[in-house]
Amino acid sequence: MDVPLSKLRLNSVDEYEREAKKLLAQDLVNYIYGGTESGATLTRNREAFGKYLLKRRVLQDIEKDVRTETSYFEGKIKSELPFFPSCINTIPLYPKACLDVLKISKSFKVPIFISDIAIPPGMEASELPSLVPADVPLIWQFYIFEENYDAVFKHAKLAQRYGYRGVVLTVDADLNVKIGDEIPVEVRERNFHITRISEVKKMRDSVSIPFIVKGIMSLEDAVVAIENGADGIIVSNHGGRIMDSGQSSLEVLPRIVKQLKSKKSTRKAEIFFDGGIRRGTDILKALALGARGCLLGRPMFSGLAVDRENGAASIMSILKDELIRDAFLCGLRDLSDVSPKILIEA
Ligand SMILES: Cc1cc2nc3c(=O)[nH]c(=O)nc-3n(C[C@H](O)[C@H](O)[C@H](O)COP(=O)(O)O)c2cc1C
Repeated sequence: MDVPLSKLRLNSVDEYEREAKKLLAQDLVNYIYGGTESGATLTRNREAFGKYLLKRRVLQDIEKDVRTETSYFEGKIKSELPFFPSCINTIPLYPKACLDVLKISKSFKVPIFISDIAIPPGMEASELPSLVPADVPLIWQFYIFEENYDAVFKHAKLAQRYGYRGVVLTVDADLNVKIGDEIPVEVRERNFHITRISEVKKMRDSVSIPFIVKGIMSLEDAVVAIENGADGIIVSNHGGRIMDSGQSSLEVLPRIVKQLKSKKSTRKAEIFFDGGIRRGTDILKALALGARGCLLGRPMFSGLAVDRENGAASIMSILKDELIRDAFLCGLRDLSDVSPKILIEA
């Protein structure tokens, strides 16, 4: 994986994925693109988008420039687009890949989620915020391992001082990632701690910036996370990497949205979404079902694998163009007007 293919012009996330799979060694292809056991959850994440069709609208006298800006947590985090790089462990791809993700900030003013375990060796998390412009919010994602238990809460406390604008606690990796029938070598040495509700509260008490819980796939967990202090959740099944035969994150999304909106104590929660997004139409469907922002996992890997920072930026730009086109075709002037009305159940 040493020659960046800057001359390569690829036009879709799928093309990047196909090219990445040709370039990468087989163990990395498995680590990145594989799913748990039979792979049913992974497949379901993609197939779920096919259950909805988009309704075409014309004759509305609208222009092609669709407004895409949005903000989160009562304006504390702003974004020019409703989708962004997810927190992903890019170290096995190449150790400095996380810095190439940060470079998309030259062209895209969107929040960037940084996995704590993706910080390049020899660097400190405190160094990353100064590498991006001030209007690009970095969000620091933590796992709790048995071996870093105290450090996680200490770091979360320092996040704001370091310049991070939010923190994420991922709570769904308790039994580690399993690809096929094995825990991949890339993550095998880690002892995941099983997160308790008291630790969600403890994390809440450690930070005064927005706090998000990642890995929510049920109405019950969504309510528990918010009622115990989270400002937002990420509806996610970790890209089908933890549990086989689970629901897709898209199919659970609208019910979680309805549940959180129905209770006074949870109504203000921000709801993010990931799992299976490969097209602008996928983002539009997730937004229509109530997600306020979408995260990209494997698409970022595909961009990085093919063309490092250019590839990562190209993934953002392909999805931006698709999303704007799709929103226009559905008759939207502003993405914040999106609603289930643009969807038809297939
Ligand atoms: C190779 C790989 C590494 C990942 N590393 C992390 C991580 O460090 N922290 C985390 O919260 N999620 C991690 N995830 C999950 C992603 O953040 C995201 O939830 C998932 O990839 C979304 O599905 P998608 O790949 O279909 O976009 C990882 C996913 C992949 C594929």
